[in-house]
Amino acid sequence: MRTSHKMYLTFILSSACIFLYQYHMSIPRITSFSQQSINEVITTSTTTKNLLPTVKISNKTTPSAYTKNLFPYHFLSTNNLTKQSFTTTKHSQTASEPSIQNDMYNLTTFGALAVETVNSLTSSIHPPPPPLYIITPTYRRPEQLAELTRLGYTLKHISNLFWLVIEDAEKPTTLVTKLLQKINVPFSHLVAQMPEKFRKNKVKPRGVSNRNRGLEWIRANASDGVLYFADDDNTYDLDIFDEMRYTKKVSMWPVGLITKYGVSSPIVRNGTISGFYDGWIGGRKFPVDMAGFAVNVNFLISRPNASMPYKPGYEEDGFLKSLSPLNLTEIELMASNCTQILVWHTQSKKNPNAMALDMTKYNNTNLVELKQILV
Ligand SMILES: *[C@@H]1O[C@H](CO)[C@@H](O)[C@H](O)[C@H]1NC(C)=O
Repeated sequence: MRTSHKMYLTFILSSACIFLYQYHMSIPRITSFSQQSINEVITTSTTTKNLLPTVKISNKTTPSAYTKNLFPYHFLSTNNLTKQSFTTTKHSQTASEPSIQNDMYNLTTFGALAVETVNSLTSSIHPPPPPLYIITPTYRRPEQLAELTRLGYTLKHISNLFWLVIEDAEKPTTLVTKLLQKINVPFSHLVAQMPEKFRKNKVKPRGVSNRNRGLEWIRANASDGVLYFADDDNTYDLDIFDEMRYTKKVSMWPVGLITKYGVSSPIVRNGTISGFYDGWIGGRKFPVDMAGFAVNVNFLISRPNASMPYKPGYEEDGFLKSLSPLNLTEIELMASNCTQILVWHTQSKKNPNAMALDMTKYNNTNLVELKQILV
């Protein structure tokens, strides 16, 4: 470790500390900590006893996970700093002078301590936002991996989010599990098959068993936050996630590219909901799209019988009705009183299954491996 490098590192760390101290002082003192932030501080401070850095907060994969979006984690990228420290330590181990090694080690430890301190300080200033539980039903088809890739990397931008990916399959598809691990959004990969009796229907109630499995998981594992059914064939503006996470009961907003009207939306007059605009009403009380509403987790828990019916076209309506009592006046309107479109039902065009591979012609080529990915 060169002295100049050491000085540079020390300078960066001191600047960060001074900045954060001033930032802390500029915020009115918070008199009542939430229990969670106290726990956070305790958890973090005990880890400072470890000699090597453990970056608990940014690496947690529990539903209440912090992710890097929360200022100032972003500003002081914890992971990068730690990785850097590790890398430099490795280099210094190959160096000949033991004293330099020691210095480096101390500096690394100091860096880790500084990061931990900064984290505990900031987590008490900014308690994490309510968690979001995203329920995504999916099934094996040519577009599956493509759609999950797009959705997954969208969700990756959102803090404190847990992704429930539920396949209509006998067992989880390995390629899907691998993709979820690679995208690295905190997730649970579950399966839920459509009951036998519906499988021969011409119009199948797709995604119902999956979504009900998701609701079951939430009832068993979540205690606060908001749930949202995010199908894999939509396009999502990030703003909608940060709006929906403060839903108290049920919130709604427009969804673009639905029916011949081009949009499905609550009709809003003077800031209150007065009906629904959707190309197909079909006698529904709530003629909305699956991507157009979110539900508070505690509100769901207070309705123990709420679930989605196996009734094509009436899944949303049936589920929202099962949350009764729920009046139209209680619906919280998002997307600036429903004047913006933050979700689009883009859908991928249906693709035919891939043709069989001519194995006499293409054996011992990459195509054999590629074929494993295709449906
Ligand atoms: C929605 O409309 C109401 C009533 O007009 C208004 O008070 C409120 O500020 C509006 N909200 C937004 C986010 O525009």
